[in-house]
Formats: sequence, C-alpha cells, structure tokens
Amino acid sequence: MTTTQFGVGGLTAIVTGASSGIGEVIAERFAADGADVVVCSREQENVDPVAEAINAADGEGGDDGDGGRDGSEGGRALAVECDVRERDAVEALVEATVEEFGGVDCLVNNAGASFMASFEDISPNGWETIVDSNLTGTYHCTQVAGGVMRDDGGGAVINVASVAGQRGSPYMSHYGAAKAGIINLTATLAYEWAKEGIRVNCIAPGFVATPGVESQMGVSADNVDRDEVERRIGTSEEIADVAQFLASPASSYVVGETITAQGVPRIEESPEA
Ligand SMILES: NC(=O)c1ccc[n+]([C@@H]2O[C@H](COP(=O)([O-])OP(=O)(O)OC[C@H]3O[C@@H](n4cnc5c(N)ncnc54)[C@H](OP(=O)(O)O)[C@@H]3O)[C@@H](O)[C@H]2O)c1
Repeated sequence: MTTTQFGVGGLTAIVTGASSGIGEVIAERFAADGADVVVCSREQENVDPVAEAINAADGEGGDDGDGGRDGSEGGRALAVECDVRERDAVEALVEATVEEFGGVDCLVNNAGASFMASFEDISPNGWETIVDSNLTGTYHCTQVAGGVMRDDGGGAVINVASVAGQRGSPYMSHYGAAKAGIINLTATLAYEWAKEGIRVNCIAPGFVATPGVESQMGVSADNVDRDEVERRIGTSEEIADVAQFLASPASSYVVGETITAQGVPRIEESPEA
C-alpha cells in the first residue's frame, strides 16, 4: 500500500470507537499514512493513549511540524470523548475536528457494541442500547460530519457493519438488525449524497479478534475452539486495509457498497485453515 492512489495522507479522518480493537488500528493506520485523525470513544481516558501514541510516533504517525496536511509524513491525532448516541456530543466532536484540522474528509463509523442473548431475553433497554450504539450513532455522526463534507465539496463515509447484518446470527438479533440497518443506510445514502461528492461505503467484517469480542464473548485468538469456527479469525489490520482502500482515491468508483471481509470457509487443505 505505497502508491499514491491507495494513500490517505493529507486527509482529516474521524474514527469513532477508536480506543480499542478495529477502530484503534484504523486510526493508527491512517495516521501512519499521513492523515490527521480524530479518535473518539465514550471515555476520554480510554482514547487519550491512542492519540498520545500516534503523536509520539517518530516518522510515521507523528507531527511533522508542517501543519500535518501535506501527507508527506505521519499525521496528528486529537482525542475527543464522545458517546455517539448523544447528538450534542457528536456535534461537539465534529466542531472540535473542524477547529483543530480545518475540516472533515473522512468519517469511519466504527463505534459499536453488542451482547449475546436470546431474542426473548432482550429487554427494551438492551435493545435500545445496541440499536443506538450501532445504528443511531452512525446516523448522528454521518448527518453531522456529512454537513461539513457537503459544505467543503465532498468526502468519504465508511460504515462498519458486520456479517451479522447480512445473515441470521443466533443470539445477536438486536445487533444484526442494527447492522442490517447500517448496510441499507449505506446503499440509500450513497444515492442521495453522490451529487455532493460524498462516497458512502461499508465494511462487513467476519470474526475479528479484538478486546471487545474477548470481553463480550470470552473468545480470543488464543482460546478459540477452532472446530467451532467456520473461518479463520481475522485481524484488525485486515479490516484497516479495507478501510484505507475505501478512504483513498483508489476506491473512487466504489459507491454504496458493503465489502464483506471474512476469509473463506476452512477446508482441510486450505491455507486459510
Ligand atoms: N470484532 C469483530 O469480530 C467484529 C465483527 C463484525 C463487526 N465488528 C464491528 O466492528 C466495530 C469495532 O468492533 P471491535 O471488535 O473492535 O470492538 P471493541 O474492541 O469493543 O471496540 C469498540 C469501540 O467502540 C467504542 N464505543 C462503544 N460504544 C460507543 C459509543 N456509544 N460511543 C463511542 N464509542 C463507543 C469503545 O470505546 P469505549 O468503551 O472507550 O467507549 C471501543 O473503542 C464495531 O462496530 C463492531 O460491531 C466487529
């Protein structure tokens, strides 16, 4: 990923849910490639270390002292506490981004949460929490950041859904419904905003080993029962690869798509096994 077409240097990107897992790696990747990144999560103390590490990085991801917008070296990072379910907080996040970096070129709607439960056991509060964290948060961030992109002549929105939004996924009905909503929002908004120069796309990851998966499901790359999983477990870096493509000029002809990133089903002789 060294050619200009696949680069994100010089862009300003907001990455939600960037205190751990996939979002953290996307933010690190974008900054290493020269993008200025605004990283957010619900807790300032969770997201501060991510921005500090990016800003401290030497040569890749650090401030090159030239204002950071020419893409020649690593980009800068700003950490902002923001619960994407709260409209006021999202507005403050976008305002802070514009104030610090002058605009928003790319929004990665990565923040999300889930828990496993039978449909009949999901309380109204549990349902609302998961739908709000995933779908409504995406709505807030996209509407607010999209307003800035429209005024500035365009940008890229990258939503993070899940394969659980593309097919039935037992004990994840709230999450699957929310992620299916994100996939549909992607396709619909891509039509509406094409004339504004805003490309809206989505990533649907399969099973990726992250702190969130470990805490929510007790499963990690180390303890997973390989007979139980149909496909190789992915890495956050592999999802960041797709995000970088969707943020870069290399994907200029890709609009309204959901790119599934889940490997292939394991068969004995497969190198993926
Ligand atoms: N890992 C997988 O297998 C997998 C598969 C498919 C899709 N995904 C999707 O990929 C995304 C990242 O997942 P992950 O596995 O990397 O999860 P993770 O490690 O739990 O990270 C989730 C991130 O979202 C933040 N967050 C949660 N609720 C938030 C809210 N309301 N407002 C702002 N930030 C919030 C968390 O930070 P704080 O706790 O500090 O707020 C954290 O930074 C999610 O949308 C998830 O649904 C993951």
